Amino acid sequence: MSELVTHEFISEISRKHNIPAGWLMEDIQVRATDSISQWFLLQKIDDALAIGYPYAYLVGKVQFLDLTLRIKEGVFIPRPETEQLTDLAIQKIKEYGGNLVVADLCAGSGAIGLAIKKYVPENEVWLVERNPYACQIIRENAERLNIKVNLICQCCFSETTKSQLKHRVTFVISNPPYVLPKELNQVDRSVIQYEPQEAWLAPPSDPLYYYREIISQYGNPQKVLLFFEGGPSIYEDVLRLLHEAGYKKTSVIKDFSGKERFIIGEPSSTDE
Ligand SMILES: C[S@@+](CC[C@H](N)C(=O)[O-])C[C@H]1O[C@@H](n2cnc3c(N)ncnc32)[C@H](O)[C@@H]1O
Repeated sequence: MSELVTHEFISEISRKHNIPAGWLMEDIQVRATDSISQWFLLQKIDDALAIGYPYAYLVGKVQFLDLTLRIKEGVFIPRPETEQLTDLAIQKIKEYGGNLVVADLCAGSGAIGLAIKKYVPENEVWLVERNPYACQIIRENAERLNIKVNLICQCCFSETTKSQLKHRVTFVISNPPYVLPKELNQVDRSVIQYEPQEAWLAPPSDPLYYYREIISQYGNPQKVLLFFEGGPSIYEDVLRLLHEAGYKKTSVIKDFSGKERFIIGEPSSTDE
């Protein structure tokens, strides 16, 4: 088997599954030494991708902004929209001059919280996640990237979590499970089959659960900035919850595909 055959196979897989050829090359070079085992590995990758198995799980990593994060099955794969949310949050934190206490609630792989601590390190950052597999990945990512964050491996509404965070946080960011049951037909087959449902599907009997609880348990219209990822079918309800909680300064920002995606509540000073 020649190197040329390997290169041609890489180009074919890259075109077929829309994956950067460089990533495939790097992956097979790490995992197989000679061109015959590389060819068999590529064949396995091709077969797995053909049945919708996520590439990130296959190679065990995912790119998030400038960070290469480790990821594994059982843990939600961070999305490009969330890179945009994180980017917006970092800009906002800079506007506020730093020294905030930031909580990334429902942290998954740790993408949001780790990126915030990396790019605006003068802030104290807490990550809260209840899935033990995800917590293990957060620890690995933080250690490998040498990013110092505080991690709470518990439900974000447990008494222990609240006792540590409730009266201290000044910036809460969350990408909670928000896909509505009626939207299931728009969800990629590969997400339904391979990503943990409890990470992306909103509680069917109460789709606004996370937003309402985060706003009521961590919000404070005089003190706490709230940054949410959501979607076109829920952003109006989230805005309403923010207004009901006393947030006067709210905004909705569209994602790169023009969909209402990010919902923000900013504190106003008492004399406003
Ligand atoms: C949509 S994923 C977002 C993960 C990550 N923040 C990201 O943007 O890639 C939601 C995450 O929330 C976690 N989660 C769900 N309910 C939770 C709760 N009550 N407390 C803490 N984590 C929770 C899930 O395990 C999952 O990892």
